[in-house]
Amino acid sequence: MNLSGRTVLITGGGTGIGRSLARQLAEKNNTILICGRRLGALEETAAGSSAIHSYRCDLTSSDDIQQMLATFERDGHHVDVLISNAAIVGFDSLAGGLNLDAAKMTIDANLFGPIELTQRMLDTLRAQADPTIVIVGSPAGLGPLANTPMYSTSKAGLHAYTLCLRYHLEEDIRVVEVFPPTVDTPMLSEKNWKKMSAEECARRIVRELERGQEQIWIGESRMFRFLRLVLPPGRLFRVVNDWSPPEVGQR
Ligand SMILES: NC(=O)c1ccc[n+]([C@@H]2O[C@H](COP(=O)([O-])OP(=O)(O)OC[C@H]3O[C@@H](n4cnc5c(N)ncnc54)[C@H](OP(=O)(O)O)[C@@H]3O)[C@@H](O)[C@H]2O)c1
Repeated sequence: MNLSGRTVLITGGGTGIGRSLARQLAEKNNTILICGRRLGALEETAAGSSAIHSYRCDLTSSDDIQQMLATFERDGHHVDVLISNAAIVGFDSLAGGLNLDAAKMTIDANLFGPIELTQRMLDTLRAQADPTIVIVGSPAGLGPLANTPMYSTSKAGLHAYTLCLRYHLEEDIRVVEVFPPTVDTPMLSEKNWKKMSAEECARRIVRELERGQEQIWIGESRMFRFLRLVLPPGRLFRVVNDWSPPEVGQR
């Protein structure tokens, strides 16, 4: 896949993996549109690069999504690569009584928002040459992590949506799914786990996109790829939840 001279929309481009993708793809002579709820974070990503443009958009708001897409049209941006990357995580116990407002927010931000944005962009994408949708999922959507029940549920839904999308768009739009490992971003800032840097994760995503991969497994997420092929779902759930990422200082 050619990743130069494209117009790339990256959701959640204000921090973490999205920020690194924005900067690396800007260096490859692409026009980058980034969105998120905090304009300040987006502008930090864009600082020093005339190729990166910031748009405030809360993906849980249908109005925000529609306004952002109208602004792209007004600004003359024709997106040919959508990288659906934004997400939130919450650590929770279902036994303790789930915070239903927070649960709904997670599903809206991680699942329904990305679905609405993607569906509203299909016609624009179809009108471009080699249109591509990249969905950043998580191994937690394949082997759910019991301490992130709503995050895992949202990512499992996103995985199902990605498979259906690829099936229906096969002739028209390339659909790529990314499974990052544990990465050093604000999402996991409180965890003392060993993490890959966001820059390295983004570098590998870009490399595999250029190679034309349909599913991109990075670092320890490759273990999930293997385990889900050899273990029945119940056993996979046990193995995943008995394992926890090594902490800094552990071998
Ligand atoms: N870090 C990891 O270990 C890891 C592992 C597996 C998968 N992933 C996946 O990688 C992707 C990137 O995560 P990250 O680690 O880079 O985390 P991050 O730094 O927290 O980035 C998430 C971004 O999403 C944006 N966002 C959150 N809610 C939003 C909403 N309602 N509307 C618009 N934007 C919203 C945030 O910006 P605002 O707060 O400004 O809106 C933020 O910039 C996510 O899909 C995550 O699930 C991460």
